[in-house]
Amino acid sequence: MEIIKDAESLRRYSESKRRAQKSLGMVPTMGNLHAGHLTLLERATAVCDAAIATIFVNPLQFAANEDLEAYPRSLDSDLKALAAGGCDCVFAPAVAEMYGSGTQTSTQVSVPELSQILCGQQRPDHFRGVATIVAKLFVLARPDKAYFGLKDYQQYLIIKRLAADLFLDTHIIGVETVREADGLAMSSRNAYLSERERRIAPELYRAICAMRDALDSGARDFALLEDRAAAHLSAAGFSPEYVRICHADTLAGASGDDRQLVIMAAARLGGARLIDNLRLELPAR
Ligand code: PAJ
Repeated sequence: MEIIKDAESLRRYSESKRRAQKSLGMVPTMGNLHAGHLTLLERATAVCDAAIATIFVNPLQFAANEDLEAYPRSLDSDLKALAAGGCDCVFAPAVAEMYGSGTQTSTQVSVPELSQILCGQQRPDHFRGVATIVAKLFVLARPDKAYFGLKDYQQYLIIKRLAADLFLDTHIIGVETVREADGLAMSSRNAYLSERERRIAPELYRAICAMRDALDSGARDFALLEDRAAAHLSAAGFSPEYVRICHADTLAGASGDDRQLVIMAAARLGGARLIDNLRLELPAR
């Protein structure tokens, strides 16, 4: 496995693969890898000739009051896990390599509207930071395919939009959420939960599963389902940020005619901010 720290070497690595007619799959991450990340890698190695994982805790997507400093970093064990997973190349640059002129003064990429709703309301600059770093990685490596987790469904839609709007020929592939045995979506931030909070945390998934089951059984009062789930989460000890039934492509609040839906939820639990979602298709009326 090649380990690359500078942008030019990543460009050269990718060019050499392209020249050899090898397809390239990319898995962007912030490290502290768990089974969710490794499932993305598994998908990339299964389909592509060469898989590049990136590890970069991107300062531009953290607000001043967020956990940039505290974000768990574990490069050595990440590299071992990637090598064991068949990764061909890891790009793990320093901040100065990606934002030479400073994070706030270098060029940024933003996807309006989609970035402002749901998580974007609480984190107004977050998705601009995500879109900027992912665009830089795509420009450098020009991967044929890039793999993103559906756990971060809003992020996945934003990256798809970015790739389409910038005429990038990278195919964006969404990979189903990997969960703990009790249903909690795997996340590096689960490490912030106390033992007691960790026992409560799966209620987030249970709450959205209950909404899905109600929709599957014919319930159509979306606002009532949202309010009930938020109340359920509050009673369990969460501070819910939003629980919304949305159109699966636009993330606009769902209307009675929409068939492709996604239930989106975000809630704070102690020091952690947890998100989850479930996609579903309603039968035509
Ligand atoms: P990070 O949180 O490290 O996640 C990297 C990738 O792993 C993302 O595509 C995310 O959706 C996916 N992922 C995380 N948990 C998952 C789970 N339980 N099941 C399936 N996939 C999961 O998301 C980011 O980093 C950053 O915003 C990034 C895209 C790398 C840009 O900095």
